[in-house]
Amino acid sequence: MRKKIVAGNWKMNKSFDEAITLVNEIKELLGSSIGLQNDDCLVILSPPFPYISHIRKITKENDKIKIAAQNCHSEEKGAFTGEVSAPMIRSAGAEYVIIGHSERRTYFKETNEFLAKKTDAALKAGLIPIFCCGEILPDRKNENHFNVIKRQLKEGVFHLSENDFMKMLVAYEPVWAIGTGVTATPAQAQEMHAFIRKQIAGKYNRQIADNTTILYGGSCNSKNAKELFANPDVDGGLIGGASLIASEFATIVNSF
Ligand code: PGA
Repeated sequence: MRKKIVAGNWKMNKSFDEAITLVNEIKELLGSSIGLQNDDCLVILSPPFPYISHIRKITKENDKIKIAAQNCHSEEKGAFTGEVSAPMIRSAGAEYVIIGHSERRTYFKETNEFLAKKTDAALKAGLIPIFCCGEILPDRKNENHFNVIKRQLKEGVFHLSENDFMKMLVAYEPVWAIGTGVTATPAQAQEMHAFIRKQIAGKYNRQIADNTTILYGGSCNSKNAKELFANPDVDGGLIGGASLIASEFATIVNSF
């Protein structure tokens, strides 16, 4: 079901103690306001792996706050030193997992084919994948951005059955906007989100497309969130840098 979601991707930041402080501050600032605004509004926190179960314990009583992992492996278990599987993440209390973040695609050379396997593994373990797609700057400049997104969707998630696809969230994160302070304009975000929805309608059907939650990510902050979220096809945000400051993050959550 389509929801309003603000997800905080903490990436590789914060010590354990700092992470606990951050989550407590966020909890306090949000109070009961998340529930009051909108029944379909959710907050997702995506801390580093070692903090998941502890943070889950702290947020457990608030059913509007969910936990995501930042990545998972495609295999359930085995000799993959340093990797973490989807069932492990689920057993630690996370309900979501980010798949295909551009930093994974770039630094860890994750291909669409590998991401398709991770998506399958996540769904099999009962995790909801937050599938990221986004073009690099040269692709945008050469007006190749729609083709790039089309291909990432086709090869990463369009092998899924209708039933499985309906569980997914999609995040559009133009790579040129991530951590750069440059944000897509509300019009650019809306244009691409509408395009993504059209691709989903073409592959599955209009009803599934209309029910898919599509988040925007890339230098989204407390100042631009309202304008971005006001677009009809933007259902919220995947927030990096601004999710590390409780007051910034809470303002973004309250931007719907
Ligand atoms: P940013 O990161 O908000 O710091 O640009 C977004 C993301 O990588 O998810």
